[in-house]
Amino acid sequence: MTVQRVGIVGSGIMGAGVAEVASRAGFDVVVRSRRAETAGDLQNRLEKSLGRQVEKGTLDDDERDAALARVVVTTDLDALADCDLVLESIVEDLTAKQMLFGQLDRLVQRQAILASNTSTLPVVELAVATERPDRVCGIHFFNPAPAMSLVELIRPLTASDETMAEARAFAERCGKDPVEVADRAGFIVNALLFPYLNNAVRLLENGIASRDDIDTAMRGGCNFPMGPLALLDLVGLDTSVAILDALYEEYRDQNYAPVPLLRRMVAAGRLGRKTGAGFYDHPR
Ligand SMILES: NC(=O)c1ccc[n+]([C@@H]2O[C@H](COP(=O)([O-])OP(=O)(O)OC[C@H]3O[C@@H](n4cnc5c(N)ncnc54)[C@H](O)[C@@H]3O)[C@@H](O)[C@H]2O)c1
Repeated sequence: MTVQRVGIVGSGIMGAGVAEVASRAGFDVVVRSRRAETAGDLQNRLEKSLGRQVEKGTLDDDERDAALARVVVTTDLDALADCDLVLESIVEDLTAKQMLFGQLDRLVQRQAILASNTSTLPVVELAVATERPDRVCGIHFFNPAPAMSLVELIRPLTASDETMAEARAFAERCGKDPVEVADRAGFIVNALLFPYLNNAVRLLENGIASRDDIDTAMRGGCNFPMGPLALLDLVGLDTSVAILDALYEEYRDQNYAPVPLLRRMVAAGRLGRKTGAGFYDHPR
């Protein structure tokens, strides 16, 4: 099956990023946001982001207008019914995602792929919440989706070869470089990245070094484009705790157990860029 119409559920950091990528790649995109006001935000963010690309000269006015015209933002889940592929990008919570997959399964045309953008959760548990487990897989974009070239394709035990091939073709048409990985928490990147991020918070919490010195050290010593605490702010601290919890649940390795400071910051509402403050202030 050729994918032409893409549905996205969730209008947060990743939903918005993937909507931009898919519309620029020429797909018709329907984004479902739960609330009308966040739907409006997404439309504004999309216009701004595409506008910046016009200023930089990587996009012309006609391409921007065409990309914008291909995106519909709605609060109505039923609008996804005739999509060929639906990518779920809601909160990193297994129960919420399972409920959504059950709903999507009843709603979306039978031959469509239902995919998750989860960072760590077992995709097979989403597949078995549907009557089409062979058509469910993970398509894990990275943040910010328009800038990052990697997509991890997660193959649950239940997925068919056709589903994986179609998911790969979709990622490639989005201009990404896909890799395939088995359905184990953290896949490749987060299984390797999150012990590092978590241990950076541990250094801070234990008073070993300051925030700025930790980030300066990893930029200057490893040539990373940003330090671990700045990266946690970009990912979102709530999402980061959810990722660590899922990794710890799977492997019971202390490196994955979220450092208490991370949980306290989430409790305080300091979630990173998306709330305007995390380890750093992010004036909006
Ligand atoms: N932030 C990252 O760096 C990153 C990178 C790759 C993948 N992901 C994954 O993408 C998904 C979304 O993450 P995000 O960073 O965009 O989060 P976010 O907090 O920016 O957005 C989450 C969205 O889900 C909506 N939502 C929350 N609960 C819901 C529910 N019960 N039903 C429907 N919608 C609900 C929220 O309103 C919000 O629009 C997660 O699975 C996350 O693990 C995140």
